[in-house]
Amino acid sequence: MAEAVADIGLIGLAVMGQNLILNMNDHGFTVCAYNRTTSKVDAFLENEAKGTNIVGAHSVQELCAKLKRPRKVVLLVKAGSAVDAFIDQLLPYMEEGDIIIDGGNSHFPDSIRRTEELQKKGILFVGSGVSGGEEGARYGPSLMPGGNPAAWESIKPIFQAIAAKADGEPCCDWVGETGAGHYVKMVHNEYGDMQLISEVYQIMHEGLDLTHDEMAEVFTEWNKGDLDSFLIEITRDILKYKDEDGSALVTKIRDTAGQKGTGKWTGIDSLDRGIPVTLIGEAVYARCLSSLKDERVRASKILEGPKNKKYSGDKKAFVDQLGQALYAAKIVSYAQGFMLMRQAAKDNNWKLNNAGIALMWRGGCIIRSAFLGKIKDAYTNNPELENLLFDPFFQEATAKAQDAWRNVIAQAVILGIPTPALSTALNFYDGLRHEMLPANLLQAQRDYFGAHTYERLDAPGTWVHTNWTGKGGRVAASTYDA
Ligand code: 6PG
Repeated sequence: MAEAVADIGLIGLAVMGQNLILNMNDHGFTVCAYNRTTSKVDAFLENEAKGTNIVGAHSVQELCAKLKRPRKVVLLVKAGSAVDAFIDQLLPYMEEGDIIIDGGNSHFPDSIRRTEELQKKGILFVGSGVSGGEEGARYGPSLMPGGNPAAWESIKPIFQAIAAKADGEPCCDWVGETGAGHYVKMVHNEYGDMQLISEVYQIMHEGLDLTHDEMAEVFTEWNKGDLDSFLIEITRDILKYKDEDGSALVTKIRDTAGQKGTGKWTGIDSLDRGIPVTLIGEAVYARCLSSLKDERVRASKILEGPKNKKYSGDKKAFVDQLGQALYAAKIVSYAQGFMLMRQAAKDNNWKLNNAGIALMWRGGCIIRSAFLGKIKDAYTNNPELENLLFDPFFQEATAKAQDAWRNVIAQAVILGIPTPALSTALNFYDGLRHEMLPANLLQAQRDYFGAHTYERLDAPGTWVHTNWTGKGGRVAASTYDA
């Protein structure tokens, strides 16, 4: 019988798994590594893990035997059936109080189900969002664990030690019950930020004719101010990167975006909950439109655009406005994300700590930015904040940026440059700040053609039907809402 020497086990030795193991080892934890193809375990021990305290296992049984109690096993395998298959393999060798942690990009309903099913068997399940790519896994990811709260005390020292730190605090805290960790990871997705940055790039490239080196300069400057973030930083480096012939490599990349699904999940979930997360929705659709390359090529030859395709004003001043538009739209994007999480928390009975979430995203992950520190402050000052845009800092920031933001979108429309995310952010902002929207007319139309009834402003709670034409009946349709 193998000796129980390891503090934690990890299954799945792809690059994320290997790096997470090395990270845990660096922090003084003994890790036992296992992989279905066991030759990978041997190769890992002989190479990357050589000279460390890392141990290996050639079967799930051996892995479990080598773990101290309560056993803790991290799964870093493909989301979906592979997670369930490994859970099934682990169960015969686990005991009450042992912990299974799924660190993959699992869909949160699966994590809700797994937490509940395993609880019945006395096993504590944790679904943890892990963000930050290979580099993050190795030197400090953002970790968003949720699931069975009884697991937190045992995994907390390991998780908080290996996580990124922002202002000395770990970018990892307990998110909430059942699927809350994977939910928060899902809403944390870089789609909105990436789309906004890409739209600004297209305006600078196409409308202002800036060279890639000039654009890299702009991003360098932006990274020193409010927009300071990992994605601005890597965009700067990407724009500077030259291909062998000396031209910017980015210009040689086929303009069709891939996606693995978390943005789509967020969009679908926002529709299900009735929360307008329009920015991520548009970001997903923008990726879809980008992949219709052949159709776009044909359209580019036959569909008319504006005659004037170049901005003729002061480019430097316009670039400054672009930065302000980007900042304001990003604020809206995060306001929408927090609105969605608030609704999901209500629906699932999760007690989400918004300031803690902002801190978890402050470092280690793809969306890490100085700006998240401001969000943390907003929710620390007022944990019951109804909307991020109501926080005095963000209220003022959007007020200050709005003229520039409006001008950028107006100019982009005139030049025929698409700005789905920048524009939807402004439309959301304008919609939110309208006490009265034209839904009164919409309700009238619904009542006109379908007798769906409407509520009178002067008699709240009173639903009436009007016989608009004098010809219809007086019977209202039965109401149902999606
Ligand atoms: C992270 C990222 C990451 C992302 C994948 C797939 O936080 O590290 O969010 O988990 O989901 O890189 O992204 P795509 O959907 O663009 O393929």
